[in-house]
Amino acid sequence: MKGKHLIAAILLVFNHHLQAQVTKTFTIQADHLTAKIAPTMWGVFFEDINLGADGGIYAELVKNRSFEFAQPLMGWQKLGDNIPEGSLAILNRSQEKPNNPRFLQVDSNDPQNKIGLQNEGFRGMGIKRGLRYDFSVWYRQLKPGLRLHLELVDSAGNTIGEGFLEPEAIGNQWQRAQTSFHATQTCPKAKLNVWFEGQGKIDLDMLSLFPEDTWKRRPGGLRADMVQRLADMKPGFIRFPGGCIVEGRELASRFQWKKTVGPVEDRQLIINRWNTEFQHRPAPDYYQSFGLGFFEYFQLAEDIGAEPLPILNCGMACQFNSAEQAPLDELNTYVQDVLDLIEFANGDIHTQWGKLRAQMGHPAPFHLKMLGVGNENWGPQYIERLELFKKVIDAQHPDIKIVASSGTDPDGERFDFLNRKLRELQVGFIDEHYYRSPEWFLSHANRYDNYDRMGPKVFAGEYAGHPPQVTDGPLENNWGAAIAEAAFLTGLERNADVVQMASYAPLFAHIDGWQWAPDLIWVDNLRTYGTPSYYVQQLYATNKGTAVVPMLADGQAVSGQEGLYASSTIDQPNGELLIKVVNYNHKPVRGMFKLETGKKPTKEADQILLTATDLKAVNSFDDPEHIHPQTTKIAVKDKTIVADLQPYSFYLFKVKLK
Ligand code: AHR
Repeated sequence: MKGKHLIAAILLVFNHHLQAQVTKTFTIQADHLTAKIAPTMWGVFFEDINLGADGGIYAELVKNRSFEFAQPLMGWQKLGDNIPEGSLAILNRSQEKPNNPRFLQVDSNDPQNKIGLQNEGFRGMGIKRGLRYDFSVWYRQLKPGLRLHLELVDSAGNTIGEGFLEPEAIGNQWQRAQTSFHATQTCPKAKLNVWFEGQGKIDLDMLSLFPEDTWKRRPGGLRADMVQRLADMKPGFIRFPGGCIVEGRELASRFQWKKTVGPVEDRQLIINRWNTEFQHRPAPDYYQSFGLGFFEYFQLAEDIGAEPLPILNCGMACQFNSAEQAPLDELNTYVQDVLDLIEFANGDIHTQWGKLRAQMGHPAPFHLKMLGVGNENWGPQYIERLELFKKVIDAQHPDIKIVASSGTDPDGERFDFLNRKLRELQVGFIDEHYYRSPEWFLSHANRYDNYDRMGPKVFAGEYAGHPPQVTDGPLENNWGAAIAEAAFLTGLERNADVVQMASYAPLFAHIDGWQWAPDLIWVDNLRTYGTPSYYVQQLYATNKGTAVVPMLADGQAVSGQEGLYASSTIDQPNGELLIKVVNYNHKPVRGMFKLETGKKPTKEADQILLTATDLKAVNSFDDPEHIHPQTTKIAVKDKTIVADLQPYSFYLFKVKLK
């Protein structure tokens, strides 16, 4: 080491030593189990917002594949120098197929005249070199002779994959045909050309392209990299399909699960409420194809080991939008939707809806145990409706727990009213939402310390730290927000007898198509990255333990005094003590963690550190792991861990006890 570097290193150690003089002693009563931690404790919230489903986790690459967008050719462009009038026409068979009425009719008489259509994908198509792509289409051929020439083209127009499809059947019956081909290059924003070669007349619908590498290689399935991000969190539950999308801007556009099951070509597409919701983030091409429907949501839950938590409409559209309500004497349809959903998920295969589940490939039940009635609904009108649902569900399915909304905010008159009413009603869970500043999270770490312990459990259903004065999408997912969430979550964990489910929201955002930020995971057409908040959630979810044990400083729970936040749990089957602590100070703090236990700790513990030197620091596609958990070892001596806690850091210590 050169002289000046040596001096700098000595100064750094000396400085660090000086700064680390503040010492705080924490006692962890590791043998004193105060509450069980629900296996559902940390989960995920999924909504089709920010291109979460179409253009996101649903791996379909063709946008507006069935021409059902308000503009039938949105996302498509006609190809050819000379396109004869009527040769590429949109027809509507609303009587024959009301759910999917439109189709394309190609009528071409001149084999020398090349015509076709180009699909732009969802902000382009993410294509990977060497991967197989599966094209499929529904067709009927009145005058045979046309073949489909498929071409993937990169941004410069170069062909990076091609295939051919020659429809065989002739006549009036719709048929499905498919063909596959491989891509020769990787391209994040490719397009698909469909040329019609030869001469003839053909009707086409559901033009579709999927990569072969979907999750579990299921045809027509989900983007594997996005599902993997969820699986890596080992979530206890997955809430779906939202969010405001459950409510709809008006009742007609509410989420209706029955319209999302069965063959995909029969699922009725509707506009996505996030298409028009925010004027500053318009997304005119945002629709819900429901290729990701309720069967797929249940299957996803099962795949990633999460309890399914569907939320259904309570007979009220979004109260920020139309605020339409179904009259009480017309609520039957809504209540029946709930009963039928329970049958779809759990019913015998001889029941109407259980049979459909079996036909879709899942004869075994999905073991639904809870469901939500209403999202962010409020007021006496919500309570009136909820009461009706509850009466029927309790009578017919007493084992199903009802999750009820406490509105949009975690405090105020609306919240107080609902909180009181929902406790009187004895619902299973009260769904609380908090989109608040990091300061709010820091100052509310003790929110549940004195909560009612006897009544309904709390579902912290949607939360995220929203840093003030940052409005840049991905930049909103900064370390300052994530560390505040980490601090707040110590309070949820400490009160795991009250809070039994928690999920950050929203989950996914596409970098070229988001409406709402911050979000847990950012994606583009080929990549994903976890935000600092993702790693916070993941550390909690994968280290939740099975029981809470007291962790005190100066005889008190550690919920923000001197900028420190802490909680501790024990994983009984693994004999492991899990200590979480946040140092929200600009200086290091020496933590003395004294383990009060009759058991013998191992000599070393795992120390997992999540930190950044700047509260504004973020992860990004270019630096996806700028902030990520770093694991090292730390000594355990005389049942004590001494750790110099860096400024603005989140630590997890894992100690084996024998
Ligand atoms: O997570 C985004 C939105 O926030 C949800 O749709 C809604 O429930 C809440 O207002």
